[in-house]
Amino acid sequence: MNIVLIGMRGSGKTAVGRILAQKLGRELIEMDELIVGKAGLSIPEIVARHGWERFRDLEEEVVAKLSKRDNIVNATGGGVVVREPNITRLKQNGLLVWLTANVDTLLQRIGEDDSRPLLKGKTRREDMEITLAERQSLYRKAADIAIDTEGKTPEAIAETIASVKICCLIGDPVEHSLSPLIHNAAYKALGINYSYITLQVKDIERAIETIRARGIRGASVTTPHKVSVLKYLDRLDPPAQAIGAVNTIVNDDGVLTGYNTDGDAALKALEEVTVLGGKRVVLIGSGGAALAIAAALKEKNVNMIILNRTESKARQLADKVKAEDAGDLSKISLVASADILINATTVGIAPGTRATIVPREFLHDRLTVFDIVYNPRETRLLREAKERGCAVVYGYRMLLYQAAQQFELFTGHPAPLRVMESALVQALEGG
Ligand SMILES: NC(=O)c1ccc[n+]([C@@H]2O[C@H](COP(=O)([O-])OP(=O)(O)OC[C@H]3O[C@@H](n4cnc5c(N)ncnc54)[C@H](OP(=O)(O)O)[C@@H]3O)[C@@H](O)[C@H]2O)c1
Repeated sequence: MNIVLIGMRGSGKTAVGRILAQKLGRELIEMDELIVGKAGLSIPEIVARHGWERFRDLEEEVVAKLSKRDNIVNATGGGVVVREPNITRLKQNGLLVWLTANVDTLLQRIGEDDSRPLLKGKTRREDMEITLAERQSLYRKAADIAIDTEGKTPEAIAETIASVKICCLIGDPVEHSLSPLIHNAAYKALGINYSYITLQVKDIERAIETIRARGIRGASVTTPHKVSVLKYLDRLDPPAQAIGAVNTIVNDDGVLTGYNTDGDAALKALEEVTVLGGKRVVLIGSGGAALAIAAALKEKNVNMIILNRTESKARQLADKVKAEDAGDLSKISLVASADILINATTVGIAPGTRATIVPREFLHDRLTVFDIVYNPRETRLLREAKERGCAVVYGYRMLLYQAAQQFELFTGHPAPLRVMESALVQALEGG
């Protein structure tokens, strides 16, 4: 995995990058140097002859090349964040570290160096102020970690970066995941030197090698790797073993243990609203999440009926967890005599928010309805359940509890649940 330094000119990317590369035994790449080499012209010459757009095109080509490299320290140019594809590429295999400083400090560090043409302003200060104001939100959006460099030496900053503990989400796709928001909010609240990033992973074997080789502390695992990852791990905790799927990996000095926090999290979310023992549960779905939930419910002495679009999968799961009955969706009217209904299918997820798995007429006021779909926060199923007088359990509660358990496994600290919840709810509400 690469370490990619972003930030304004004068933020210290080169000075920090040099020390960091030496400390970690990595190659330092200075992107502006590569661009100059590629064009055979200095930056002022590129801009004077071909304009800033040409410079940005060259920069984009260099980023595309560098994102295929591994294990480098990349000191980018200040404007790399201006083009979104650059960030997407750099993030594929990189930890993006934003070095921040105020305008006075940036100007003082740059001094008399006028090797860069002005972008926006008439004076250096004006140029810096306008450019920083324009880029600030882009840096914030792109960064996995932000480090305030004010009053710190490049050595101290490099040390902070070198000692950051990295956790990640591996899956494909990962770009819409809310996990980085939840985990990073928790790290920030506790002031611990951790960072959570997403890695789009097609080749799971290679990803596991990276986790081991780079000492990545922990990983959340999502579709499509929850089952295929098993054979690359050293140990499994009992729920992961029983389910045959992993959503969490903890790396203890190269020994990788797989956990599955989905089942526990679903029980926690349900038990906020209802007791489980002796209840009649209709669980719809037979995919990875349904499997984890069914296995956890089995321990709670419930009577379980499993329904699924593909009946054979429902039967297979019912056999595995010794459920009372199984069938396809033609048996959906069984909901009318159930105490708890769980939707563990993808039906109702955005953008298909008009869909619902259970006709409204089967919902009744003695029923607790748990929809594990969390996007949107209130699915059509939950809306109709409320209208029919049911108690409801939101899917985001399960997401929250599984993230909290992961956080504790990764860091050893109690999860700051309120902080994580507010980051999650804010994200779901588009904040
Ligand atoms: N809240 C949380 O923390 C949490 C955690 C994990 C997952 N989830 C959510 O849970 C859902 C399922 O995840 P998963 O990992 O179990 O997925 P999965 O393994 O792909 O399983 C998908 C399930 O949905 C069913 N399904 C798909 N389209 C359907 C349709 N049009 N009509 C009826 N059934 C349909 C599938 O039935 P077939 O077997 O017939 O294909 C299968 O049972 C996703 O929406 C995911 O975002 C939430």
